[in-house]
Amino acid sequence: MTGTTKTIHGEWSSRFAFILAATGSAVGLGNIWKFPYITGENGGGAFVIVYLLCVALIGIPIMMAETMLGRRTRQDPINTMEQLTEEAGADKNWHYVGWAGVSAGVLILSYYSVIAGWASAYVIKAFTGSFSNANAEAIKGIFDAFIGSPMQLIFWHSLFMAATMLIVVRGVSNGLEYAVRHLMPGLFGLMILLLGYAMTTDGYFQGLHFLFNPDFSKLTSDSVLTAMGQAFFTLSLGMGAVMVYGSYLTADISIAKTSVIIAAIDTIVALLAGLIIFPIVFTHGLHPDSGPGLIFKTLPIAFGSMTGGWLFGILFFLVLTIAALTSSIALIEPAVAWLVDSKGYTREKACIASGLVTWLLGLGTVFSFNIWSDVKLFDRTFFELLDYLTANLMLPIGGFAIAVFAGWIMKRQHSEQELNMPNAQYYQLWKFLICYVAPAAVFLVFLHVVGVL
Ligand code: PHE
Repeated sequence: MTGTTKTIHGEWSSRFAFILAATGSAVGLGNIWKFPYITGENGGGAFVIVYLLCVALIGIPIMMAETMLGRRTRQDPINTMEQLTEEAGADKNWHYVGWAGVSAGVLILSYYSVIAGWASAYVIKAFTGSFSNANAEAIKGIFDAFIGSPMQLIFWHSLFMAATMLIVVRGVSNGLEYAVRHLMPGLFGLMILLLGYAMTTDGYFQGLHFLFNPDFSKLTSDSVLTAMGQAFFTLSLGMGAVMVYGSYLTADISIAKTSVIIAAIDTIVALLAGLIIFPIVFTHGLHPDSGPGLIFKTLPIAFGSMTGGWLFGILFFLVLTIAALTSSIALIEPAVAWLVDSKGYTREKACIASGLVTWLLGLGTVFSFNIWSDVKLFDRTFFELLDYLTANLMLPIGGFAIAVFAGWIMKRQHSEQELNMPNAQYYQLWKFLICYVAPAAVFLVFLHVVGVL
């Protein structure tokens, strides 16, 4: 690993830069688009509790493990796994963890980009005043007409993919750091403002109740799996993105502290999204289980009726698009880094190749909302199947493998040195979570889903 690796392995300029970039990767459509609609589909409060438990007990320890593995080798996920396997004298098959991660990133980005395209299209819709004074039915009409048109979806998907690849090709530090530094505070500000609006609606307490009042009878084994999958998805875990970002991290930075900060910010943004969306849902007699279109059918109602809503609508969808961009670059970076590292591609060529494959796959998701909406396998459309396969299966399985590797395969002395905790008890706690709690939790959820438990 000489020569070529230098071109991609820059370093974050500071701890703050790393936190920003990793938060940028974590905060995205998963928090604002996905969390509300899957919470709505899975009955609310009880689902949220399982999700929060998964973030704390599985997500944070695995985030620390992934960052640590990446930083130790400073390579892409596939080479990282290969090198660490060698260091630990373990079975060579561990490098498949890296492979699975790189593939999961491409698969996820293929549909992520389509949905991010919706957000970008909504910037224009907000700008042209489509939402002004529109009622819930009119807003739903706009959404249905939009996703019914393959051409429109392809246009926005293509645009979003092009933007992603343009940033990635320039390397992550400047463009990315700049974007996240300026946009994350903006996203927060807008969300607080929308929360203010939601608090004035009649449905606010009903929304609050839905989000925080657990009714465990609504929890099926599949919703437990979905909650766990969401914890992985929203924290960008189990597929090597955090590993790659960790590989650009300098040695003096505390992995534990940064992981907790990132997970906390990510969780706050998701809960904020729920607190904004459900009150609007109930106020306008909509259904929390309206699926992937939920935010596109609810938020425009708010923008259409509040003072300054025109401007806030434009800004909100713009910021959402950019939050999606800072995640999409993390989804494709493992593939690009690997093509450069191992295949000797230039960064340009690696971007074109991985971008094209992802774009093509994305067409399947585009069509699943219109001309293929009736084509189903295991009762799921192409998009639903891809989402289930990646978020609910590949990420948790990847995370499980990473936990087992970091906890059981890697030498204690190496993880201790890499994590460099200020006190031995913290290390013990992490070790316990990563060796026992995280793998056992993932395993039990899977047993539950296949019906053994
Ligand atoms: N965490 C991102 C989100 O919530 C999605 C993502 C998953 C990004 C995996 C990178 C890696 O939108």
